[in-house]
Amino acid sequence: MKQLTRAKITGVGAYVPPDTLTNADLEKLVATTDEWILERTGIRERHIAAKGVASSDLATEAAKVVLNSRGLSPSDLDAIIVATVTPDMFFPSTACLVQNKLGAPNVWGFDLSAACSAFVYALQTGAQYIATGAHKRVMVIGADVMSSIIDYTDRATCIIFGDGAGAVLLEPSEDELGLIDFMHVVDGSGGESLFMPGGGSLNPTSHETVDRKMHFVHQDGQAVFKFAVRHMAEVCEKLLERNGFTGKDVDVFIPHQANLRIIKATGDRLGVKPENVIINIDRYGNTTAGTIPLAMNTALEEKKLKKGDLVLLASVGAGYTVGATLLRWAY
Ligand code: UT7
Repeated sequence: MKQLTRAKITGVGAYVPPDTLTNADLEKLVATTDEWILERTGIRERHIAAKGVASSDLATEAAKVVLNSRGLSPSDLDAIIVATVTPDMFFPSTACLVQNKLGAPNVWGFDLSAACSAFVYALQTGAQYIATGAHKRVMVIGADVMSSIIDYTDRATCIIFGDGAGAVLLEPSEDELGLIDFMHVVDGSGGESLFMPGGGSLNPTSHETVDRKMHFVHQDGQAVFKFAVRHMAEVCEKLLERNGFTGKDVDVFIPHQANLRIIKATGDRLGVKPENVIINIDRYGNTTAGTIPLAMNTALEEKKLKKGDLVLLASVGAGYTVGATLLRWAY
């Protein structure tokens, strides 16, 4: 039988739009305080895209950083997968728009929808094309302009989300470094805890859907919080265990950045050393599909990632969707 090829991450790039929205700015929009937001979420500020800047723009910039870091050109790519819950439009896919903006002549691509877990799902999807030998270079991007679907009069949601993108390049590994294993779970019973009900085939856009604010994110924060704390850790535990590891073996833990309390509770339950947990939620908020590659970039900037490190990625999000990936850092 043909031996499957392990995929490894060979480059990471990030891009956030320059404008920021601080907690002090939010105090002027809704009944909230800097102190409440910081204490309950760990967020100080988020980046917000200017009018006319879309997910494909952030995604393209992040992908360019990756290509530059590897000394590659867009023509070296075989496929582009864009994880997003805020595509520029229903169709064409954001991946097609990124292909055109990058000027990548030899690729195909598609978008992947799994909300906050979309990046880890896309990472594993890309890895399968490497595993089978179908492709040599797959660009996996997580990009969201959450500000396009946030109601800035709803204090339950507007304090959390921000805009940003991160990208990684997947290439074949010749050794034991790279992606080791993953575990993904969906639980559709949580659908109405975090969703955007308008604009799809169920509730096509109308004056009524706009008047009823159905094109904004609706969230039952406490329900999502409880699910996240329990299930992100549970999936990580199972994944570590079946590979013969515990949280103590994890050199770098890169969790989805939705709430600092969720991150800390998960790290503690897994037994990951606090200094091994990557946190940048204070600067970016929750950028949905962007959080994990953005945090990977933070880990590299802070020189916390080195060749051979055991890395655990973990996410939880709307759906519900849960995902965890175990890998050995390859460079
Ligand atoms: O990517 C995955 C997506 N989302 C998540 O992971 C989000 C998970 N959930 C959360 O992060 C938290 O539930 C929130 C940050 C959204 C809310 O924090 P909480 O600690 O769960 O607050 P709460 O909803 O239980 O509200 C506590 C109190 C309430 O007041 P009373 O009833 O105790 O008087 C709220 O009305 O805080 C009030 N409150 C606020 N106060 C100031 C709720 N939001 C705010 C706010 N500013 N922005």
